Amino acid sequence: MKKIVLDVDTGVDDALGIILAVKSGMFDVLGITTVNGNVSLAKSTENTCKILDFIGADAGIPVVRGASQPLLRHVYFEHRIHGEDGLGGALRDFSASRQAQDGFAPDFMIEQVKSHPGEVTLIMTGPLTNLALAISKYPELVHQVKEVIFMGGVVTQYGNVTPTAEYNMYVDPEAAKLVFHAGFPELTMVGLDVTRKVLLDESHIAELGDTELADYVRVSTSEYTQRYFERNGVRACALHDPLAVGVAMSPELVTTRKLFVDIETRSELCDGQTICDFQNRLGKKPNMHVCLDVDAPAFFEQFVRVLNS
Ligand code: BDR
Ligand code: CA
Repeated sequence: MKKIVLDVDTGVDDALGIILAVKSGMFDVLGITTVNGNVSLAKSTENTCKILDFIGADAGIPVVRGASQPLLRHVYFEHRIHGEDGLGGALRDFSASRQAQDGFAPDFMIEQVKSHPGEVTLIMTGPLTNLALAISKYPELVHQVKEVIFMGGVVTQYGNVTPTAEYNMYVDPEAAKLVFHAGFPELTMVGLDVTRKVLLDESHIAELGDTELADYVRVSTSEYTQRYFERNGVRACALHDPLAVGVAMSPELVTTRKLFVDIETRSELCDGQTICDFQNRLGKKPNMHVCLDVDAPAFFEQFVRVLNS
């Protein structure tokens, strides 16, 4: 089984990513680390604990808090998209019995990678602050981790928080820059180029049947879908973070190219923009696998099957 650490800013779609990862039974989940992003660190940690309790996940899965703010910038929450509580209000009356354990996410990542050299996959579905802190403290992590899969960025379309930037990159571009330039042998970018092609709609929710989990998905994605509709004219919502988990489960879901990607950190208009050198004009060595297409029906077949299991 693939050993994973999932790093989240839970968030409606992070929560669905957690559910997919845990319920798939395909992973040895070493831990779930939390970060500031869609909501505060405290909220993202509480939401992570709630969702794990809600699906009856193994009580032994550690939840570890990480960075409460980006490396250099102010926080930038997304309550308009994810709701006041970050889960679209779906678990408002649910209280978690589990709690985060003591410790700091970057240290936890380092410990796990040191304990299982060459075996750990890091799946990052929030701003990259925790990973940037981990590699700054322990640069060897770059060569001891098996792979890093992150949801973030966009290279063939427009952004979703500014005209050019995707949210996770926009929140902490300095962290993303450190990660992009660190020299990870296996780094995969799951950006809006592909996540905008995995759109959850009523028909998928209907396939989940008449269960508590189906109700949860319906309620938690309701506002999120409305916001997507207002912006894009399609009554659906993009499963950004679950797709990053899906890629860890089944890499063949996506078509990738190994390319050099950098990120803008010093522009009034373009901070957080990910720039992909498709024609190698900069002459730099490719630094990541960029997802450029996805088999959306296959992803949804997997997503629905796992949630129904
Ligand atoms: C990303 O930003 C967040 O709002 C989502 O949780 C996802 O990780 C999409 O741009
Ligand atoms: Ca997220």
